[in-house]
Amino acid sequence: MTATLTINPAFTIGPVRRRTFGAFVEHLGRCVYEGIYEPDHPRADEDGFRTDVIELTKELGATSIRYPGGNFVSGYRWEDGIGPKENRPTRLDLAWHSSDPNHVGIDEYMKWCEKTGVEPMMAVNLGTRGVQEALDLLEYCNVPSGTHFSDLRRANGREEPYRIKMWCLGNEMDGPWQIGHKTAEEYARLATETARAMRMIDPNIELVVCGSSSSEMPTFGSWEATVLKEAYEFVDLVSAHVYYWEKDGDLASFLASAVNMDHFIDSVAATADYVRAAGKHTKRINISFDEWNVWYMDRAESVPPTGDDWPVAPVLLEDHYNVADAVVVGNCLISLLRHTDRVASASLAQLVNVIAPIMTEKGGRAYKQTTFHPFALTAAHASGEVLRVGITAPTVTTEKFGEVSAIDAVATYDAETSKTNIFVVNRDPENAHELRVPVRDLAGGTDGTLPTLLSAVTLHHDDHTWQATADDDTSVAPQPNATARIEGDQIVVNLPAISWSHIALG
Ligand code: AHR
Repeated sequence: MTATLTINPAFTIGPVRRRTFGAFVEHLGRCVYEGIYEPDHPRADEDGFRTDVIELTKELGATSIRYPGGNFVSGYRWEDGIGPKENRPTRLDLAWHSSDPNHVGIDEYMKWCEKTGVEPMMAVNLGTRGVQEALDLLEYCNVPSGTHFSDLRRANGREEPYRIKMWCLGNEMDGPWQIGHKTAEEYARLATETARAMRMIDPNIELVVCGSSSSEMPTFGSWEATVLKEAYEFVDLVSAHVYYWEKDGDLASFLASAVNMDHFIDSVAATADYVRAAGKHTKRINISFDEWNVWYMDRAESVPPTGDDWPVAPVLLEDHYNVADAVVVGNCLISLLRHTDRVASASLAQLVNVIAPIMTEKGGRAYKQTTFHPFALTAAHASGEVLRVGITAPTVTTEKFGEVSAIDAVATYDAETSKTNIFVVNRDPENAHELRVPVRDLAGGTDGTLPTLLSAVTLHHDDHTWQATADDDTSVAPQPNATARIEGDQIVVNLPAISWSHIALG
């Protein structure tokens, strides 16, 4: 069957925001230890960071990286992670029933960010701690000198302040699993007081207040309204988190997960706008979608250890992703880009080993999961303005969302290079579809030259459950789509069932 995409560079949604391509590093499982940091590894640098992971992070195109949690942050004492490593205490991490030797702390993390060329996004503990500890951390990071914590930073070897811009006011405080979980009213008060005081130290920071842990939370909507009513003037962004997985073999609904992401974003934006109108605020609160991914929560590795066993860096949340998972990740990026007018920042959760696009072997190789590819290609090619895309396509019946379009897509247009990039998924579990893109509206120059097809690549495998391993992480790397052609003033491409594609025109 045929699907048609209508795109016109005049119909823009907003600029591509680089922070859309953020990720997340949490002290969880093997994300930090054996992930970004493994001093004994043959590829470790002088600071103990794995250079193979740094290279893959750069190739992934991750822009801003949230740290140090996640659930971990709600019990974290940041001071444990500064100063000489031999003096740092090992602590219980209640969130993941693990031990943390604190060999990586704020100074190591910031060094890693600088080496990797990513922007840090720092979370403060509003679970077991409060305003004062958040202020101390901000003083340590952003005040130049002449105060207790800024001078401590300098004594620890970092002369210049880090001037970290993005700060999260706690993590998932709506979740009963969270240490220091709060009601919306309690959190609204604490977040507002923390935000107000943090801005007194550094008025240039951008603050993210916790929204909902998923759109399935019983408090979804009322949580955002209550928190924003109090915090509105003191924060810039409200967070959203979501994880998808194939439940009970319902592949069609899973492939259509981005329908939920679309609704989620629209609902949070509507609530923020309602509070704006009710409170007669002028500024607009946008969304930081700072945790999103596929996560098979029902898998054994997702269950933390128990009892007296408090391991350092246990195998936790090490999902091995297949081709269908990669299509869902690619589709979520389409959804995030489509909402570039409201989603100002996003973080794929997480970066390495823990529900991650990059995996490592202890002492061994680092490799790419299937989900790496749509992320890396979207981050590399999306540029300029996001365009409104008209989609006419066959539909798929899903249990969860009813009839949904089999094809979903977004396009960007860069006026500087005259390039159009289309990112498209076929989320039909059974059928291939032919995609037609009329390009007359993209004609350039005084003679109205039609754009040419620069490239078309597709990620697909006849077995959608195919997973990458350290021995083979290239079999599903996107391949040139041999069906892509120009017919008159249309680009035509066949999109196999369960596939993600990138088409470049220029
Ligand atoms: O990313 C894994 C966990 O998922 C995070 O720690 C938490 O914030 C969320 O529930």
